Amino acid sequence: MKTIYTLSDLRDWKKRTRDVTPSIRLGVLGDPVTHSLSPEMQNAALQECDIAQQYAPFQIAPDELETAIRLLGELDFAGLNLTVPHKIAALAFVDEVEERARKIGAINTIVFREGKSLGWNTDGPGFERAIREEFSVDLRDLRILLLGAGGGAGRALAYQCARENCERLVLVNRTFEKAQVLARELAAYFSGPRVLGPEARLEAIRWEESALRTQLGRTDLVINATSLGLAPLDPSPLPHALIAPHHMIYDLICRKAPTRLLAAAAESGARGANGLAMLLHQGALAFELWFDRPAPLAAMRAALG
Ligand code: ATR
Repeated sequence: MKTIYTLSDLRDWKKRTRDVTPSIRLGVLGDPVTHSLSPEMQNAALQECDIAQQYAPFQIAPDELETAIRLLGELDFAGLNLTVPHKIAALAFVDEVEERARKIGAINTIVFREGKSLGWNTDGPGFERAIREEFSVDLRDLRILLLGAGGGAGRALAYQCARENCERLVLVNRTFEKAQVLARELAAYFSGPRVLGPEARLEAIRWEESALRTQLGRTDLVINATSLGLAPLDPSPLPHALIAPHHMIYDLICRKAPTRLLAAAAESGARGANGLAMLLHQGALAFELWFDRPAPLAAMRAALG
């Protein structure tokens, strides 16, 4: 079983990891973090490249995040990943933020360099590669409905869809106001002439069955960027009856067993894929930021099974 570290371990790090070789210099911070497959994937990459370092999971609560990032920097870590629910909050706790990540308002990667912490976001480009790999389509050709648009991952994906000039983007979030704010931020990307019909190319809608039903009739790709599905008993974010055979369903959740959403997609005859390909590509891009060399994609993919 993999060891999961905590803030209390970080406060006494040298002593508690005295016997760990190679030393732990990278990690993922989450709450929960047990589900994360990043340690397996990144450790395979480190081995493949003969880098004598390890990558570990850290269970860090939201009120511990600032201290954890500071301590990890002081402990001479090379870098970090951030997962639920830290991607937005972490932005405030790094010294510098790359321009795209600053716009998105969320980071999933930290690079520690020359005494500074630098925040990046590789979720968007990782997602774009994953969609191409899973469904052999490009974002620019799609009408997309994004569930969880107000979260850290959701915001990164929405910016990527906008930059790629997708046909339509419908933003859905439990807290509706966050979807509205994001729609205002993205409006300029959708002012161009690529209009399929009279409907708006960019909309924020309430998380209500009737509104979803109307939109799903003219949607190609449905993305789940909420944390619903992380726990095996979580309900599906979409009622089964709303999924149609023409849909592509991309669930960012990375559990090996199908989530309820993906099971419903399969029953409805829709194509579906879990978040493994996005995990792979966002992780490969993070590896390249930490080590300034190409990531060993095949070894990382193999580690994800
Ligand atoms: P991350 O940074 O990893 O994306 P996050 O910022 O906590 O994590 O975002 C979680 C997303 O899942 C948010 O969109 C959240 O909706 P709210 O903005 O309303 O909080 C969404 N979410 C979490 N639990 C949910 C639930 N039970 N039903 C619907 N959406 C949920």
